[in-house]
Amino acid sequence: MSRKIVIRGGKPLFGEINISGAKNAAVAIVPAAMLVEGVCRLENIPNIVDVMAQLEIVRGFGASVRFVNPTTVEIDSTHINLSHPPFELMRKLRASYYTIGVLLSRFHRAEVAMPGGCNFGGARPIDLHIKGFETLGAETAIREGGFICVEAKNGLKGRNIFLDVVSVGATMNIMLAAVLAEGQTVIENAAKEPHIVDLANFLNAMGAEVRGAGTDVIKIVGVEKLHGGSYTIIPDQIEAGTYMAAVTATGGSLLIKNIIPRHLECISAKLVEMGAEVEYFDDSVRVSRSGPLHKTNIKTLPYPGFPTDMQPQLAVPLCLTEEGASVITEGVWESRYRYVDELRKMGADIHVDGKVAVINSVPRLSGAPVKASDLRAGAAMIIAGLAATGETSVEEIVHIERGYDNIVGKLQAVGADIRYMEDAPDGAARVG
Ligand code: UD1
Repeated sequence: MSRKIVIRGGKPLFGEINISGAKNAAVAIVPAAMLVEGVCRLENIPNIVDVMAQLEIVRGFGASVRFVNPTTVEIDSTHINLSHPPFELMRKLRASYYTIGVLLSRFHRAEVAMPGGCNFGGARPIDLHIKGFETLGAETAIREGGFICVEAKNGLKGRNIFLDVVSVGATMNIMLAAVLAEGQTVIENAAKEPHIVDLANFLNAMGAEVRGAGTDVIKIVGVEKLHGGSYTIIPDQIEAGTYMAAVTATGGSLLIKNIIPRHLECISAKLVEMGAEVEYFDDSVRVSRSGPLHKTNIKTLPYPGFPTDMQPQLAVPLCLTEEGASVITEGVWESRYRYVDELRKMGADIHVDGKVAVINSVPRLSGAPVKASDLRAGAAMIIAGLAATGETSVEEIVHIERGYDNIVGKLQAVGADIRYMEDAPDGAARVG
């Protein structure tokens, strides 16, 4: 049976939505718990496929994983070992590359299956991660069958590492490798995303010495070992931004709760240009729109620039502006426009040339069967379905479930007509 999400669009959204823990922080912090010989209690764990997969990977290395309540997990990595690495699980998940930094740090050796994950339609290399490990003293071999083996026979030694490209994954992975290395590691041209700061805060709470996360120079002084403790994962910037984009597209008013306002400034600046009203409180934000949508231009950049992970979602309201053409320039990935073909099925008028998409406004989007080609593309399809006239069905929703905790339930609670449906092999459809 294949599951899909079916939406009857055209309804404004009103009410409150609670934001879950940050996917991109959790997918690094869960494997980072394997650095600790003791128990890590992690709170605000989002219930999403990628995080559950990381927990399975950690369990596959022999850690004990126990949910205390639906959003709190205790991981005891005292007895982890490298005897039966969970290769197949790793291959399914891009963020399984964090396992390399963690195991290299703790055991001076890591063998992992080449990571999978979202395919945006361009290359997703990990050469900078490897270069970082090698600078710290590791040797790397690529084995037949898609395995990477990284080993530091004489241990890891702190060094200065300059990242040629600002990379979230490389910054975090090198940080993980360096926490138990001998001496000081300095990462220059580091990424500054909120999840980098969150990983550093987690590591420091367990006894690491990481300074400067959130700036472009991060210094890590290696310590002998980390100890157990409790840590609460930050709220998900991109999940919050997605609901902010949704209400901007549909009209209405949403109070989005459990957020960190400064993480959302780069997103709300664009939404305001597009005609939304945004009001911040201590840990919530109200986003409303009643007037027309206006065109704007967006360029994605590393944080604090506009996040590439919000680009597809913002493309939807830009289809429906009152006037003229908006331009999106992708500044992080080679290309990230696979969702455009799907939006065209709904009546969008978008021209893509390399990294640039020109979005001409259309009077309306019309419901259609579409696919979630990757995680954020899937979120864009849901927003398009909410804003469109008629019925939209979104297929391949496994991509959406990788990163959105209960998206259907959260949208139903604010007035959206959205539900799961299963196509049975006999062709009958069942509502879920
Ligand atoms: C992370 C996010 C992803 C987001 C991206 C950019 C996770 C699990 N995923 O992905 O959702 O879109 O940050 O904000 O956190 N690059 C190299 N060599 C490398 C690594 C990266 O050239 O070794 C390039 C990439 O091709 C890309 C750029 O650096 O052009 C940024 O990629 P990076 O920040 O590493 O993305 P991820 O960490 O994979």
